[in-house]
Amino acid sequence: MTAMCAPVSPGTTNWRVALPMPLIDADGRELLLRLIVPADESAIRVLHEGCSIATLRWRYFGGGEQVEHLLSWIFDAGQGEAVGVWAQDRLVAIGNLMLPDSTGTGEVAFLVEDAWQGRGIGSALVDLVTDLARDEGCRYLHADVSLDNGRMRVLFARRDWKSTVLDGDYSMGLLLA
Ligand SMILES: CC(C)(COP(=O)(O)OP(=O)(O)OC[C@H]1O[C@@H](n2cnc3c(N)ncnc32)[C@H](O)[C@@H]1OP(=O)(O)O)[C@@H](O)C(=O)NCCC(=O)NCCS
Repeated sequence: MTAMCAPVSPGTTNWRVALPMPLIDADGRELLLRLIVPADESAIRVLHEGCSIATLRWRYFGGGEQVEHLLSWIFDAGQGEAVGVWAQDRLVAIGNLMLPDSTGTGEVAFLVEDAWQGRGIGSALVDLVTDLARDEGCRYLHADVSLDNGRMRVLFARRDWKSTVLDGDYSMGLLLA
């Protein structure tokens, strides 16, 4: 997987995620990472239509109008940022960052369409959204992960996220340096 960040000022420790950014997935396909914008609404709907019930449950936990809920806030820059992964003109994954609250805690969540899982896209999104969170001043990141969602838990754990079981799910967190 190819990903790059650029320093805000060369030689400083202030880093700014450089988007759009190319990604090469594990199958050698060239993808594009860029911020989600309101014009992407129909692509977000198509992405959700391509997801299995299990994938949607792992992303949203409960049932209901998941994509409608996401669309109700995903374009609000005052609430957060979202990064999409594109295979030509098809959106295949989204990473969400909710901006830090008064304690400096940002919330993250990820969705990779079933047909695109297992190619390193989720890993690249986690690393990129973590960099975005640093840029946004987060001091801590939080994510809820279902107890049966081994892939997400392992992916976080390999990046030093810690987990506790809370209310029947893993409450996972990363302290940002
Ligand atoms: C979880 C998710 C975001 C991961 O994205 P992905 O593109 O499939 O992940 P990757 O291809 O980067 O693989 C992640 C790692 O999990 C590993 N993995 C795969 N299946 C696994 C499993 N069943 N149990 C444990 N680890 C597993 C992979 O080997 C890989 O590790 P590696 O990089 O060391 O090889 C994606 O599968 C998804 O959208 N799932 C449904 C929604 C969801 O769970 N969202 C998370 C809510 S916070």
